[in-house]
Amino acid sequence: MRDFFPGLAGIPAAKSSVSFVDGAEGVLEYRGIRIEDLAKHSSFLETAFLLLFNRLPTKRELDDFTRDISHHRRIKYRIIDLLKSLPEQGHPMDALQAAVAALGMFYPAHEVLDEAIRYLTAVRLIAKLPTIVAAFARLRRGDNAIRPRDDLSYAENFLYMLTEQIPDPAMAKIFDVCLILHAEHTMNASTFSGMVTASTLADPYTAVSSAIGTLKGPLHGGANEAVIHMLEEIQTLERIPEYLNQKLTNKEKIMGFGHRIYKVKDPRAIVMQAFAKQLAADTTTQSFYTLASAVEKHMDARVGPKGIRPNVDFYSGILYHQMGIDTDLFTPMFAIARVAGWLAHCFEQYHDNHLFRPDQIYEGQRNRPYQSLANRETSSS
Ligand code: ACO
Repeated sequence: MRDFFPGLAGIPAAKSSVSFVDGAEGVLEYRGIRIEDLAKHSSFLETAFLLLFNRLPTKRELDDFTRDISHHRRIKYRIIDLLKSLPEQGHPMDALQAAVAALGMFYPAHEVLDEAIRYLTAVRLIAKLPTIVAAFARLRRGDNAIRPRDDLSYAENFLYMLTEQIPDPAMAKIFDVCLILHAEHTMNASTFSGMVTASTLADPYTAVSSAIGTLKGPLHGGANEAVIHMLEEIQTLERIPEYLNQKLTNKEKIMGFGHRIYKVKDPRAIVMQAFAKQLAADTTTQSFYTLASAVEKHMDARVGPKGIRPNVDFYSGILYHQMGIDTDLFTPMFAIARVAGWLAHCFEQYHDNHLFRPDQIYEGQRNRPYQSLANRETSSS
């Protein structure tokens, strides 16, 4: 009998130097640098540069990269038209996936090993994803899409395009750190999905649109949205034990907890929790934060010893809720950041490519006779 590894758990599918994770110790490094250091000292664009080019940029390089990103933030009116034509009740992740696939038709990038094309493609994707997400968020309400503003930072500009108001600098800083923390995470489902597409030598727009589709699911990036629905259902501190008891007895998953790799608290959740606590003190979100931390305490007591701890989506969901952002935009905001990591892995894939084509263990029947239609109703096989 051949070995079978459900979900490919523990099976290396590539060699990579993009990021490192130690799930037992709760360590995550991008290109060798701890995420806590990046969260403290870096910016999202600097971190994106690090992920793409395997080194921190010089001042000049960072200025050039920032200028190039600002220059490419706008989206064509035809992309706006495409977003306008989508159903307003449709999920923004689906709109993002469709728009990113469409971008590839406007900016062909089939020469996947050409460095200049690769750079421009990375710049376009990192620059345009926030504009697409913000535009869909407004268009579905009947509002006009807002043009990006070159004088605003990457994080400020996204929040501005959503609300038409210059955000509070502290809020923009928190969002920028969230982008850093979401930018990369080794061989996760969406990254693998993007790499499988890249391994066919499809262009990066197609690979990223595959990755967006995979990120959407509630077992992956979609969990941050599900966390809020869960907390809204629980409502009060008193209801927590009963809610968790019922779910855990029925073997249902509690959203925002557990991770294939981490058996301790996700290091990204630790940084985000500190911001959530700060926002709870400064805004009217104290009771929401209290509810969330009580859920964490109860979960710790119930399943903590099994290694089921809060993951990044638990506290990113809470933070974005505290910032007043629509719940269904949380996962697209994750995608805005993760595109940097997806691209870094896809570029590694293009460079040393082997088409992904795993094997299977066949469990079906063989050599069955073909029965004519007239004979099938009475047939038992
Ligand atoms: N709630 C309750 N029980 C859980 C949870 C959870 N969130 N996560 C795992 N478990 C339990 C399972 O029931 C199972 O128990 P058993 O051994 O008694 O049968 C055991 O832990 C192992 O669970 P698996 O699902 O097999 O472990 P896996 O490594 O596949 O889980 C996953 C990882 C899919 C993330 C899981 O923890 C989960 O579904 N969590 C909820 C969704 C979520 O928050 N996803 C976001 C992950 S972070 C990200 O993608 C960015």
